[in-house]
Amino acid sequence: MEVASSLADDWLRLNRAWWDERAPVHAASGFYDVPGFLAGRDSLRAFEPAEVGDVRGKRLLHLMCHIGLDSLSWARRGAVVTGLDFSQAALDTAVILAGRAGIGSARFVAAEVSDASRALAGETFDIVYTGTGVSQWIPDIDSWARTVAALVAPGGFFYIADYHPFPDSFDIVDGEVRRLRHGYLDRGPWVEHAAGSYTGPAETSANAFIKWNHHIGSVVNALATAGLRIEFLHEYGFTDAPFHGLERGEDGLWRIPADQFQIPLMFSLRAAKDP
Ligand SMILES: C[S@@+](CC[C@H](N)C(=O)[O-])C[C@H]1O[C@@H](n2cnc3c(N)ncnc32)[C@H](O)[C@@H]1O
Repeated sequence: MEVASSLADDWLRLNRAWWDERAPVHAASGFYDVPGFLAGRDSLRAFEPAEVGDVRGKRLLHLMCHIGLDSLSWARRGAVVTGLDFSQAALDTAVILAGRAGIGSARFVAAEVSDASRALAGETFDIVYTGTGVSQWIPDIDSWARTVAALVAPGGFFYIADYHPFPDSFDIVDGEVRRLRHGYLDRGPWVEHAAGSYTGPAETSANAFIKWNHHIGSVVNALATAGLRIEFLHEYGFTDAPFHGLERGEDGLWRIPADQFQIPLMFSLRAAKDP
């Protein structure tokens, strides 16, 4: 990992170009399994609907919704969904998938997340949802939390289920922690270069991106300071993203073998806005 240079000042252009190029790659990947989704597969992780509860008739905003599979899975469960992302290419795919899935109620809005309130003309939502690969793309966690809090309607809540920042601090090779990449409390930004994507190899040209690290305490405190009341924070020893050395369970999630040190791989948090 390269220490941030002046490239970091250009984070918005670089990150959006990285995602724009990957949207069609992801839509065609086995990782996202679009055919399975169109055949009825729910893309949500089982613990998410269990923790969010009944969404029927609820106005749900999905921040950083990517190609919309999770947004549309919430819509299939009865939520009235708005997806928001800064990648127009991702949203174009989401709109096509909504049409092919016959989900007419979902809408998709293009905006950088910190600009969400303005892009949505001050609208508020019963549930604001985000997750699976979002924290590291957020430059300023305090400003992000204020944005999130403003989008939640009184009596509603914010819910995030994301990859835990702890394992990202290490280089893990063949299931073994080899060395520290950065401190758990270090915030970045860092410049990374990655051809292809987490969905597999691909010919790509926009390969530089900027990432940040937000440790769990900073996320909790940012949301609490923004006026939300933390209802729970779960740190989970499983992940839906396979990486070397993890074992796949019958529930489709990946875990560290039971005879090795257990570290958190995902977290979920719900925070309410009191009426
Ligand atoms: C890992 S994906 C989210 C994946 C999603 N949970 C899924 O599995 O479909 C991250 C998304 O965040 C979007 N994104 C990254 N930075 C953003 C920003 N600053 N504002 C808005 N969207 C952003 C990207 O375009 C991408 O679609």
